[in-house]
Amino acid sequence: MTKPLIIAIDGPAASGKGTLARRLAAQYGLPHLDTGLTYRAVAHRLLQFGLPLENVSAAETAARQLDLGDMNREVLSQHAVGEAASKVAVMPSVRRILVDKQREFAAKGAVLDGRDIGTVVCPDASVKLYVTASPQVRARRRHDEMVAGGKDVSYETILADIERRDARDMGRADSPLKPAESAYLLDTSQMDIEAAFSAAKTIIDVRLSAE
Ligand code: DC
Repeated sequence: MTKPLIIAIDGPAASGKGTLARRLAAQYGLPHLDTGLTYRAVAHRLLQFGLPLENVSAAETAARQLDLGDMNREVLSQHAVGEAASKVAVMPSVRRILVDKQREFAAKGAVLDGRDIGTVVCPDASVKLYVTASPQVRARRRHDEMVAGGKDVSYETILADIERRDARDMGRADSPLKPAESAYLLDTSQMDIEAAFSAAKTIIDVRLSAE
């Protein structure tokens, strides 16, 4: 049996990895999982029931009950849910439950994006990409997006937010954000989505033709 094609994409908040992952999934005809949504869904459940975000056993239950097919991106993409998710994401027992579900999703081939896909979730992925951009560029992109969506928020607030989120994601003890040893680094600071997509596609095609 041939090995299923798994594309692992990691990177910090607002690096463009989500858009890139969706485009690559369409290109290679693979299902896509935004693993950030799984942490967001657990956090959202706690917020919904007014439970403290430090309640590990409630977070474990929410993680166990999570159905990957039933995650509402619109609700989960809210800013407050993202903040809460990065707190839930430090809990090793919650990570274990979600990682099992993510691996099951990946089993037959998929594109997954997150923080620990190449390092922990799918260490044997066919191709690993680490997508990044400077905090200033990421803040600028997020700011433009929010302003276009009619939100009144300052660039400085967003930059501070991104820096705080980076520190939490990179500094946690369990599965911190870092490039996998065999990951290709894709710095999109000077690239638009088309250029990033084309660079990623080249990397993947070269990697696959070498198999
Ligand atoms: O990518 P995002 O903003 O949707 O992620 C929300 C939070 O979940 C973020 O702070 C990091 C965490 N996360 C993680 O720890 N591991 C993943 N594979 C994906 C996200």
